[in-house]
Amino acid sequence: MAGGGFATAPANGVEFEAKITPIVIISCIMAATGGLMFGYDVGVSGGVTSMPDFLKKFFPVVYRKVEAGADKNSNYCKYDNQGLQLFTSSLYLAGLTATFFASYTTRTLGRRPTMLIAGVFFIIGVILNAAAHNLAMLIAGRILLGCGVGFANQAVPLFLSEIAPTKIRGGLNILFQLNVTIGILFANLVNYGTAKIKGGWGWRLSLGLAGIPALLLTVGALLVTETPNSLVERGRLDEGKAVLRRIRGTDNVEPEFADLLEASRLAKEVKHPFRNLLQRRNRPQLVIAVALQIFQQCTGINAIMFYAPVLFSTLGFGNDAALYSAVVTGAVNVLSTLVSIYSVDKVGRRVLLLEAGVQMFFSQVVIAIILGIKVTDHSQNLSKGFAILVVVMICTYVAAFAWSWGPLGWLIPSETFPLETRSAGQSVTVCVNLLFTFIIAQAFLSMLCHFKFGIFIFFSSWVLVMSVFVMFLLPETKNIPIEEMTERVWKKHWFWARFMDDHHDDQVFVSGDVNGKKSNGKSNGFDPSTRL
Ligand code: BGC
Repeated sequence: MAGGGFATAPANGVEFEAKITPIVIISCIMAATGGLMFGYDVGVSGGVTSMPDFLKKFFPVVYRKVEAGADKNSNYCKYDNQGLQLFTSSLYLAGLTATFFASYTTRTLGRRPTMLIAGVFFIIGVILNAAAHNLAMLIAGRILLGCGVGFANQAVPLFLSEIAPTKIRGGLNILFQLNVTIGILFANLVNYGTAKIKGGWGWRLSLGLAGIPALLLTVGALLVTETPNSLVERGRLDEGKAVLRRIRGTDNVEPEFADLLEASRLAKEVKHPFRNLLQRRNRPQLVIAVALQIFQQCTGINAIMFYAPVLFSTLGFGNDAALYSAVVTGAVNVLSTLVSIYSVDKVGRRVLLLEAGVQMFFSQVVIAIILGIKVTDHSQNLSKGFAILVVVMICTYVAAFAWSWGPLGWLIPSETFPLETRSAGQSVTVCVNLLFTFIIAQAFLSMLCHFKFGIFIFFSSWVLVMSVFVMFLLPETKNIPIEEMTERVWKKHWFWARFMDDHHDDQVFVSGDVNGKKSNGKSNGFDPSTRL
């Protein structure tokens, strides 16, 4: 039982002793750099793709269109170019492919080498991008950055949740998202500055400064220790126990170590984690994880994050004002994420998601109405007052996203899967997220061109659908210990409980007891004895 430090409440109800040690602090810095890198990549492309010098060099067709002005081209279509969209979206396509390799290296080499690989991908990608002389180099650089994102987003959250004491695991999870938003803001600020550089190399500086978070991640990966879980998983038991002592700041780690051995033994019995994920009784978590990722992207957030400067200049703001507005949305994104960190364990996930649903729906509809009336294909008379109102509504929308779907889209899947499917579930989560990020990135400018102001009605309809989904199908998981989800959440849910009927499961399913009886005999999940 707990002595000094503070106690965490693990799955089997026994409390483990754990202090916040320097190594846990370093792991926070790791989260920061992994998140920063991802965020920087998200934020940088929008500003760069609205810089005339960049367009002139790589996308002369778009450059000529933009230069031609509104009388020749529709306001809504001037940036519609598949190559330009590929510049932004190739990163996500590479990332979702890389996730599968990353899940292999995470298991066989460990978390630390996987983060190191991510750092190296990032560094080479940044060099190629900053030095690019042609489109091929540019896209190759983005693909390498995407591989970095795939490896980092698989390994960093896993690393964090294994190294963190249970009690601060949720906070650390949202801290990762906080750093994604800081990365986006940093990129917007950089773009704001580099857009002013005369001489045509501002975009190189924007792309090159991604080297800072990339280097930080690489150095960080070299400095931190491997997680005890990964060491035990690979048979290095003594080392695993020594590391556990060091990170918990105590010699009294036997109970946690025993749990770790048991979890690792049981996890090894699962020969096909992905097939296991498809079992009927894992359906609720799988459906929720996949739906949450699709919904998160269908809020339309990345239409704003990637293309805010382009969007603002489409709306008739000058180039400078456009980037300036993007900086404002970036700041709102960061600050509102703090709201989530503060309130998620107090008011709960559902309240945040439902409130945000109303706020996002309302602001998107207002934006659509203003644009519908004021911005037509070949003329726009958005007065200063209306332009400010559009920016305020975009900020209202971004704020709502940042305290709801942004962090919770990642948090909820990570806390609802039982141990036996948790890592496979994480891979699917990352993959679906990046896939839909890719689809939105690739399609947005064409959608803007065809739907015009209706794009905001399109996204607001999705917001309506996802809010109804949350209302009826998303259970509250606030303050529920992670291994008690089955008993206290799924088995009590009006709809999902039917999937929890043990008789539907395979009769002989050894790994099922990962979720059920533990050494202290307390059942907090499936009771495998009812099936065997
Ligand atoms: C999403 C990203 C998005 C970011 C915006 C994240 O949760 O996964 O796609 O760009 O939030 O802050």
